[in-house]
Amino acid sequence: MDSIVVKGNGPLNGQIPIAGAKNACLTLMPATILSEEPLTLTNAPRLSDIKTMTQLLESLGAEVSSLQDGKVIAMSSHNLDNHIADYDIVRKMRASNLVLGPMLARLGHAVVSLPGGCAIGARPMDLHTYGLEKLGAQIELKDGYLHAKAPGGLKGAEMELAFASVGATENILMASTLAKGTTVIKNAAREPEIVDLADCLRAMGAQIEGDGTPTIVVQGVDRLGGATHAVVTDRIELGTYMLAPAIAGGEVELLGGRIDLLASFCEKLDAAGISVEETEKGLKVARRNGRVKAVDVVTEPFPGFPTDLQAQMMALMCTAEGTAVLEEKIFENRFMHAPELGRMGANIEVSGGTATVHGVERLKGAPVMATDLRASVSLILAGLAAEGETVVNRVYHLDRGYERLVEKLSNVGAIVERVPGV
Ligand code: EPZ
Repeated sequence: MDSIVVKGNGPLNGQIPIAGAKNACLTLMPATILSEEPLTLTNAPRLSDIKTMTQLLESLGAEVSSLQDGKVIAMSSHNLDNHIADYDIVRKMRASNLVLGPMLARLGHAVVSLPGGCAIGARPMDLHTYGLEKLGAQIELKDGYLHAKAPGGLKGAEMELAFASVGATENILMASTLAKGTTVIKNAAREPEIVDLADCLRAMGAQIEGDGTPTIVVQGVDRLGGATHAVVTDRIELGTYMLAPAIAGGEVELLGGRIDLLASFCEKLDAAGISVEETEKGLKVARRNGRVKAVDVVTEPFPGFPTDLQAQMMALMCTAEGTAVLEEKIFENRFMHAPELGRMGANIEVSGGTATVHGVERLKGAPVMATDLRASVSLILAGLAAEGETVVNRVYHLDRGYERLVEKLSNVGAIVERVPGV
């Protein structure tokens, strides 16, 4: 397995282009199932998770072509011939469960493997099935697979999610576009990826209002057409690279960056003494002098502080002036990076969903282990300002969510190298 070697090399300077969002693309691709006509996505990220979703859609009979060096994904679900999402694909990537709603709506039946356990939490699908059953589906769990059917088609309904789940909102939203009548989803997730999905579905002919607010209203239609849609900027990749100059010093411009995607995160950077400015091409982030200040963070659904930036923010707080308290409210086991940062000399106490980070002067490089996608990149960030060499092992986690990371960081002056595994 490959590893990445990082050497602290002082302040960073230059530009980093931000790609299209993984978490938008992974819900936009299953939307092809809703229509017989072609759906084309532009500004697509080049990631291993996108390849896995391609494999899944092809296993259902969709045609998926990757064009323009992977930045364009052309799809057609004209000839779907399989309604089973196999465990062997689903276990590699939980987002595979986003084919359930579209298949149910288009085909009237679907069999989708439950993804199983995940490093960061139990992540059940009870809210997905709750919403789809409200639309009239009959769902049964058999041999680790959800068997869902709606022989008479789905019917619009009113529902309230117990928690503003991103995935459940996406599955229900896609299914309700072809349901008879009106669907009202209360306490819906408000993430920018949901708004991006709704924009794409509207371009396909869906009637949707309220996306981005807690209440989404959908008027079902008989059929959806095709469309071409540009994937929204990846706010988590953006936030991750905004922290590079914050941790190592210097000034970096993030091309395609937008403050509205990360307002609560930018507020925390400002409180920590990091300057964030809008530019013509995106955002400029700089840490000019002195140590960053410790700030407390609580992760929440959008527009709150994103859980997918908690690990990276912890890396920044490791060398902050003072003590920072980070509360993880979304996932029950998302501090696996803390003991690895501890190997680099960080002073972190974890108790349940709370991590207390006592800032130290400087971290020291060490061999560390990546445990999940965001934990792995927090170790890379920590290595940017550490004394000596940091070796991050099991970097396949990174390939799932960061395209061309070594190239992007090297271009702004970081010493980062990928070392092939033996
Ligand atoms: C999406 O996951 C993202 N993944 C995650 O990003 C992100 O961390 C998460 O939203 C929260 O922002 C994709 O979009 C592919 P949820 P999702 O349903 O949809 C519980 C990354 O690093 N829950 O909002 O799975 C669940 O257990 C990944 O890119 C239920 O209890 O997240 C969790 O505690 C990691 N029952 C909480 O809700 C359900 O039916 C949030 O989950 C569904 C969820």
